[in-house]
Amino acid sequence: MLVSDLKIEVIVVNLLKGVPMKFMTLVSLAFISFSTLAGDAANGAKLYAAKGCVTCHGKNGEGNAAMKAPRIAGQFGWYVEAQIKFIKEGKRTTGASATMKPMVASLSDKDMQDIGAHLEKLK
Ligand code: HEC
Repeated sequence: MLVSDLKIEVIVVNLLKGVPMKFMTLVSLAFISFSTLAGDAANGAKLYAAKGCVTCHGKNGEGNAAMKAPRIAGQFGWYVEAQIKFIKEGKRTTGASATMKPMVASLSDKDMQDIGAHLEKLK
């Protein structure tokens, strides 16, 4: 996410060559704040509880060895988002991830991003 935002920023900055520096800085700042606002952790916390993630991964993302569910608390948001997407799309079939597939079928890209922002904050 961040990487593609930066790419867009570089393109925009190149397009704006010749435009006053002050304006270019404003444009860059706009993109940076966009990236930080990307995941809504509060909504992610709600989804994490409502979508049943707690059942396997635990209330605080601590994981559950008996269910072969890994610890996911404190993991990078982008990684969580990517793994949920891979499992949802059937691209990741390692270990016991098939048990998780039906649980994430209804999640949108934004939902995954929000859950990632929530888990990243957990210790
Ligand atoms: C039925 C139990 C179950 C439920 C419910 C479940 N998961 Fe999982 N999840 C697993 C298992 C098992 C794995 C490990 C897959 C493997 O062995 O590769 C996993 C893997 C993951 C991973 C990848 C971890 C890593 O280190 O690569 C993430 C992220 C994740 N789950 C998030 C979620 C979220 C978010 C939800 C709720 C929407 C959820 N899971 C619901 C069982 C579950």
